[in-house]
Amino acid sequence: MYFSLEYANMCGIFGYVGKRADAGCIVVRGLKNLEYRGYDSWGVAYQVNGSILVKKDVGRISAVSADLFSNASNLALAHTRWATHGGVTQLNAHPHTNEDGTVAVVHNGIIENFQELKEDLLKRGHLFLSETDTEVIPHLIEEELRSSDDFALAVRKACMRFQGRFAILAMHTGSQTLVAARTGSPLIVGVSKETADHPQGYFIASDIPAFIEHTRLVQYIDDGEMVVTDGNSILFMDLKTGEERPKREVEIQWTIEQAQKGKYAHYMLKEIMEQKESIARAINQEEEEIETIAKAIRSARGTFLAASGTAHKACMAAEYFFSVIAEHHVNVVSACEFKLYHHFLKPESLLIVVSQSGETADVLEAIKIARSKGSKVLAIVNVQGSTIDREADYTLYINAGPERGVASTKALTGQMAVLMLIAYALKGALREGKQLLLDTVAQINDMLNPRYVERIEHLAEKIRQKNDLYIIGRGWNYPMALESAIKIKEVSYIHAEGFAGGELKHGPIALIEEGVPCVVLAGNDEVAVDIVSNALELKARGAYVIGVGPARRRPAFDEWIKVPDAGAAQPLVNIIPMQILAYFLAVQRGKDPDMPRNLAKSVTVK
Ligand code: AGP
Ligand code: GLU
Repeated sequence: MYFSLEYANMCGIFGYVGKRADAGCIVVRGLKNLEYRGYDSWGVAYQVNGSILVKKDVGRISAVSADLFSNASNLALAHTRWATHGGVTQLNAHPHTNEDGTVAVVHNGIIENFQELKEDLLKRGHLFLSETDTEVIPHLIEEELRSSDDFALAVRKACMRFQGRFAILAMHTGSQTLVAARTGSPLIVGVSKETADHPQGYFIASDIPAFIEHTRLVQYIDDGEMVVTDGNSILFMDLKTGEERPKREVEIQWTIEQAQKGKYAHYMLKEIMEQKESIARAINQEEEEIETIAKAIRSARGTFLAASGTAHKACMAAEYFFSVIAEHHVNVVSACEFKLYHHFLKPESLLIVVSQSGETADVLEAIKIARSKGSKVLAIVNVQGSTIDREADYTLYINAGPERGVASTKALTGQMAVLMLIAYALKGALREGKQLLLDTVAQINDMLNPRYVERIEHLAEKIRQKNDLYIIGRGWNYPMALESAIKIKEVSYIHAEGFAGGELKHGPIALIEEGVPCVVLAGNDEVAVDIVSNALELKARGAYVIGVGPARRRPAFDEWIKVPDAGAAQPLVNIIPMQILAYFLAVQRGKDPDMPRNLAKSVTVK
């Protein structure tokens, strides 16, 4: 089998087999918790009285009632799609089946050689209904079933013919089993052991929230592995050789409440508000571990930080932490730009990767590059057991709990908090850093009261009709300006740009005209006077200046969003009102902030 370097795309997969007779309802309910992974169409296949029923459609699974799937069934699989091959249509939605509907498959990723496989199958008389690459899978499995009725073997043999990275779940009317295979995208098994409250069964999903309401006991399927389960037992195998692979069961810490919206209208707002506690969890690290990491940085010949999107902005802020707090130089690179950095890497170099999901393809690629040079890799991730977690030499968890909104919020502050702790440890002042962050957590707790949130909601009303918005910052507030722009763009679709305050006069100030909203992120730091000067420059050109900082700064600010004075932790507090502003701008413009267009929660394509 050939594994390409391309990583698979998003989408949600969920299957169940076991003693429960409401398999259809289980997978539909669970799938709703995976909708953040893909939301253009959905589909379900479940076995009822020995035949496979398929229901699928365009649109969101959240709008579908689980009650429609209540026929007695012990075996079901389901999918939310993020289309790559073929438009968003009912026929292209998964599951896909062979002609007589005896094999059903859901798929995440891309079968790169599907065209030639399809041509071959067409010659053999197979009929195709969709434009997807996925549809070759059930037909190929059917071909394999002609020489042996061993379903798992047929799936395995079919997989040997695929190029690309993918995850699939398959079922067949001839066997009461669920078969899964993985060469790229994540797949996790949830184990439900027979107890008074839980009947025996197995769940297989792209992410834990799908089955968290049933079990917290998981087994990870690694790349190049497959599993077969009839609901009573499960067998892990090497996809290439069919050899059995031993597996541990792991108890994960997430709670159901953490994985659900609760009283909030959207995950994004819930997760913003959770920063009252999540930062405290992030800094609750073993001191010895942090000291060891600081030592590794001290002795490394070059420390590189690589990450994507919001996590990259956390790394950019960390560059200032390392400079100001520890006087230590680190190199920060966007993971997608890491490729040519291999010239700098040595076996004694250290790569620190930061990722909420632990699945980002660009970050995995950076790890691969570091590995090829023999450098060590430290990962700072949120999702335990994720691919990055398992690929790294060493992992620190930020313990933010599940982050479901596509816009990353609590993960960012958790990442910055951990990086800041490391910087303090490097200075030899870990306790001092911890205390500063604990004080900051208390300040954030006071700040995030309903009146504060409402005040920002009103501010959003004033600017929600604007087409452009600019944000400036200096020092560690500069990456927060960039991050604010990402937040606003991705959920409200307002054109927002972040700049370093000092860069304004080198070009961007030409964009400023009467009434353009400009946010100025300020702190009580070495660059405070400079950023206020920049605010005045904006004001002189007619900008409507919204200041975020601990001081009122009259007359520079037209509006002032007060934040606590947090010293080196200022970027952690300054970003929070910007997250809230982005949230309300989205909602007031009628957009769903949890599921922005064209985006997915973890970006597993390069
Ligand atoms: C953040 O709001 C974005 N959706 C995105 O930039 C994200 O931070 C990026 O894709 C990295 O994801 P990761 O932290 O899961 O690696
Ligand atoms: N490539 C498949 C398709 O376009 C799978 C997409 C997905 O992972 O959702 O249908």
